[in-house]
Amino acid sequence: MADLWTRTNGLTLPIGAKTARAGIRTIEFRDRPGFGEEAYEIKVAPQRILVSASSSTGLFYGAVTLWQLLPAGVVSGEIRAQTIADGPRYAWRGLMLDSARHFQSPAFVKSMIDWMAWHKLNVLHWHLTDDQGWRLEIRRYPRLTSVGSWRIPATVPGSSAPKPYGGYYTQEDVRGIVAFAATRHVQIIPEIDMPGHAQAAVAAYPELGSIDGHPPVSVSSEWGVNPYLFNLEPSTFEFLRNVLDEVLQLFPSHYVHIGGDEAVKEQWKASASVQSRAAKLGIKDAEALQTYFTQEISGYLASKGRRAVGWDEIMQPGLARDAVVMSWHGTAGARAAAIRGNDAILAPDPGLYLDHRQSPLAGEPPGRLAVLSVKDVYDFEPHDPELTPAQQQHVLGLQAELWTEHMQNEKRVEWMALPRAAALAEIGWSSQPKLWADFLRRLAPMFARYRAFNLNYADSVFGIEPDFAADSGRSGRIRVTLANLPELRDAALDADIRYTLDGSDPNAASTRYGEPLYLTAGTELRAATFLGAEQVSRTWGAQMNAVSAIRRSSNQLAPCGNAVGLLLEPASGTSRAPLAVDIMNPCWIYRNADLSQGPRISAAVVPLPFNYELGPAAAHIRVGDARSPEGELEVHVGGCDTPPVALLPLAPAAMRDGITVLPAKGLPASAGRHDVCLRFARPRLNPLWALDWAQIGE
Ligand code: ACM
Repeated sequence: MADLWTRTNGLTLPIGAKTARAGIRTIEFRDRPGFGEEAYEIKVAPQRILVSASSSTGLFYGAVTLWQLLPAGVVSGEIRAQTIADGPRYAWRGLMLDSARHFQSPAFVKSMIDWMAWHKLNVLHWHLTDDQGWRLEIRRYPRLTSVGSWRIPATVPGSSAPKPYGGYYTQEDVRGIVAFAATRHVQIIPEIDMPGHAQAAVAAYPELGSIDGHPPVSVSSEWGVNPYLFNLEPSTFEFLRNVLDEVLQLFPSHYVHIGGDEAVKEQWKASASVQSRAAKLGIKDAEALQTYFTQEISGYLASKGRRAVGWDEIMQPGLARDAVVMSWHGTAGARAAAIRGNDAILAPDPGLYLDHRQSPLAGEPPGRLAVLSVKDVYDFEPHDPELTPAQQQHVLGLQAELWTEHMQNEKRVEWMALPRAAALAEIGWSSQPKLWADFLRRLAPMFARYRAFNLNYADSVFGIEPDFAADSGRSGRIRVTLANLPELRDAALDADIRYTLDGSDPNAASTRYGEPLYLTAGTELRAATFLGAEQVSRTWGAQMNAVSAIRRSSNQLAPCGNAVGLLLEPASGTSRAPLAVDIMNPCWIYRNADLSQGPRISAAVVPLPFNYELGPAAAHIRVGDARSPEGELEVHVGGCDTPPVALLPLAPAAMRDGITVLPAKGLPASAGRHDVCLRFARPRLNPLWALDWAQIGE
């Protein structure tokens, strides 16, 4: 706590000595029996603060709360006399970090554990192996990391070869991280994913795989569900037991996660040796083979005094009673597990999947396109009234997932985690009724803490959504509207947007936004959201130009559908906006385009590497009917299935692997405003083309 105050308030409290500096004579921590494992009590009286708990964890959480009673940055403030009695609603309050798809440094993992702890989150589920990388040093099997931790990123056909991507945690790194986590009362649960998501391991040791004759395979550079499974030979189980032996030495956690998700069984079905092994074991079908697999591994862990956790696919007849089911297909798996008497964790997709973008604002970094706002997380209700009180005891808690396919760097992971992890922490800890407006108000001091720790939190919930239009009535001017998101507007707080037009940063005294602005080209508009006098969003700004009124980037256009909607990394350095694309149907709608003058349309397009493993679903991707060797961008008015009103040939773009502006075309005049649909017609799927921006008007 003294350390936290130093970091957020610049206060140095001498430990073990009386201090007058903070106006507090003593802060005492006392062991007192009778509290729950993580519960504590704080009594603030004049000149004395007493924190009581029955465990070091309870004292730790008491200290965290006490720290939070003094807002970040305050060096001389008052903590009111009060008594706080507090304890958690759920024992498991977790975050999953995927270090396989993208690798984070040990320093980052420690920093994450640190901020998790002061959110009172207590489980870091560490996803260490997957098709795209094996990230944990296993001394007995060095190829797992020398081969399995490196991949060649996917590229657009014809472009130059990229550098290998990879990295792994040495056992020394892991020991340091585990020791640090213990000081923060965070339990690290390692995940070794099996029998599926095994491509990196099979790349390192092909004999572990399920393809007869085991031809070599590389570590995957594709996202999605890959088909590589471990086989069921005794030698493979010996390998897995040896790996787990090293894992158990590194991680003292009571639980070990064994994956179990998305094991598509095609390779098992196709392999004569897997089938012959199944026959020897007397196992009839591929699903039952996974049951056998889970039983072997969970049994081994049980023999070592540990409990297996698996994704909800492990829930099959014969699942060991002590195995824990992590419910990710919604919450149904947790309910079913609790009814049959297994412990369960709520980790539902999409409700707690933090790889979704958190607002429709254009500034959101890559992720999945469907929005999961901080309010959506806050609104998630873990309590299941269908379960009896005894069954409810089996629901150990909840966990949010940071899958990192689209989080290429650590700052992005922080953005996706914060402040949604604060909403998770609150619903996992507090039994109080939810009050969204109150939570929002408390986010302002939370943001101050994030800033003090230099964390790249998302301010999306307080963000500003601008809309630009050419103003037909006042020639040359641009009509700008600014709005906050509905989840803020509906909370009825005293939130205002304030702005400036002279290039200066807005402050609490700047003009309050009310009506649409009519601005001339060249004007610099800067705006921010304020709660009372406190700025709660970062400052947003834009320089007005004629193009800003008519050009929209892909993430400002409406997708035609959202089957597999993604917000992808810009393909090259030439665009700063991520690419919004439904990879099953690359198609966008430019809403309310003024077509009365027969405007010109132009568009910039970019090829994407087709790095999605969609299995049979890939056959349903809309490719279109090309009229030329490279295909076209079709422009439709009045729906997407009408005959196109214009075709923009892709031929100039196909020569390049960066963003290309296609030659502009005129559109037929049509009175009023219309939705304009843009989609590709291609002679072949790969590369998949995406729209970078579209512009309708002069
Ligand atoms: C998962 O999302 N495959 C657990």
